[in-house]
This record gives sequence, structure tokens and C-alpha cells, in this order.
Amino acid sequence: MNRGTPEGRGKSLRMDARSTTRSGGHAALYDAVMWPAERAAVGAWRRRLAVEARGRVLEIAAGTGAQFRWYAPGTEVTALEPDPGMLGRARRRAAGAAARVAAVQGRAEEVPFPDGSFDAAVSAFGLCTVSDPAAALLELRRVLVSGGALLLLEHVHLAWEPGRTLQRRAAPAWAAVAGGCRLDRDTLSSAREAGFVLVRERTHVAGWIVEATLRNAAGLRAER
Ligand SMILES: C[S@@+](CC[C@H](N)C(=O)[O-])C[C@H]1O[C@@H](n2cnc3c(N)ncnc32)[C@H](O)[C@@H]1O
Repeated sequence: MNRGTPEGRGKSLRMDARSTTRSGGHAALYDAVMWPAERAAVGAWRRRLAVEARGRVLEIAAGTGAQFRWYAPGTEVTALEPDPGMLGRARRRAAGAAARVAAVQGRAEEVPFPDGSFDAAVSAFGLCTVSDPAAALLELRRVLVSGGALLLLEHVHLAWEPGRTLQRRAAPAWAAVAGGCRLDRDTLSSAREAGFVLVRERTHVAGWIVEATLRNAAGLRAER
């Protein structure tokens, strides 16, 4: 499947009508709302995630680019984001990052790059929001090299009651005010179902936040 090359990163991509979402002001608020959490803990989680992101990295649902500052120099990051407001902020952040970051418009369900283009894929609070996480995860497998890393920092559906039920009940209202973000996604299970193998997992806030390293199972046996 040839959908362009990572070398063409940064050039504007032609997207169809389904390819963009509108944040309706969400972009302007996002960084301000996240700021206290970034200072308290999220920044440290992001930094740890970025340590494992080496070589050619695809970040999906990049938002305002809050993850960019943590990538190491020498890393080549392609960041996909469909929302024009978020993307504008992400592009400004990309310009100041230590790594080479190209922010391009696109949805995680239709990654516009050929098979095996990336060494690692990153989603930081992204798979909670993409419309079809199963399709997005299959796309990430497709564009990752064999054994490539999937690095996740996500809030997930709690495993314990009554937390799980409360999240399920609150999910529609929360999604309506939080740009489509779902509280009730079993993201690690979805990643395993898509064919990723869990290598490392760390949880925070009673299991609500998960940091995880997974590998693209394709080719793993051959590498052992
Ligand atoms: C909660 S924000 C996360 C932003 C950023 N990753 C961070 O760590 O702060 C979720 C982002 O997912 C984007 N998004 C929504 N639907 C998407 C899709 N189908 N594919 C990729 N990104 C999507 C939204 O526009 C939004 O910027």
C-alpha cells in the first residue's frame, strides 16, 4: 500500500471531508486545562515515553504537540492531527522541538504512509479520542516495521467497580464536552486484539492512566 512517503513529511496533504475534525474552541483551551496536570505528573510520563521513541516515529492524535518537547534530538517525528486548530498549535511547537518534527493533517484510521515506514508509534491521550481505535491500531501495525514499538500513554476504562460503571455512565456526557474523548476504552485489550504484544506496563491513579510499551507482533518470532 503506497500512500506517500515519510520523506514528503511537512508538505500539505490533500484530505477529504472526513479527514478533519473541528475542535470548536477545544484547541484554545486544551493546553490551559492540561497545564496543572502536565506540571504535576504528565510531563514525567511523557518524558519516559519519549525515551523509547527512536528513529522514525509516528505520533497520532498529536493535538497541540504537547509531546514534542520530550523527543530526543536525532529523532524524526511525523505527527498526525486532523483538527486544524490543534494542528496550527502543533506546528508552532514543532518548530521549537529538539527533534525533527513534521506535523501533518491526518486521521489515525487512514495513515497516509507506506507499510513499514516507522520504527515506533506514539499515542499520548489519543486512542481515547480517535473515532475507530481498532482501525487506527491496525493502521499502526501496518506502518510499523516488524517488531516496531507502540508506545502508549492513555487513560483507560477502569478494571474495578464501581469505577468502571461510573466511567461508562459518564462517557457520553464527557465526550460531548471534551472533544469526543471517551472514558470507557479498554485500549490495551484493543491493542492486543490488533496483534500487538505487551512488553511493559505501568499504571497510575488507581489504574486510570496506563503507560505501555507494545511490539508489532509481525516478525517478532523471526527476531528471537
Ligand atoms: C486529548 S487530545 C490529545 C492530544 C495530545 N496527544 C496530547 O498528548 O496532549 C486528542 C486528539 O485526538 C485528535 N483526534 C480526533 N479524532 C482523531 C482521529 N480520528 N485520528 C487522529 N486524531 C484524532 C483530536 O483532534 C485531539 O487533538
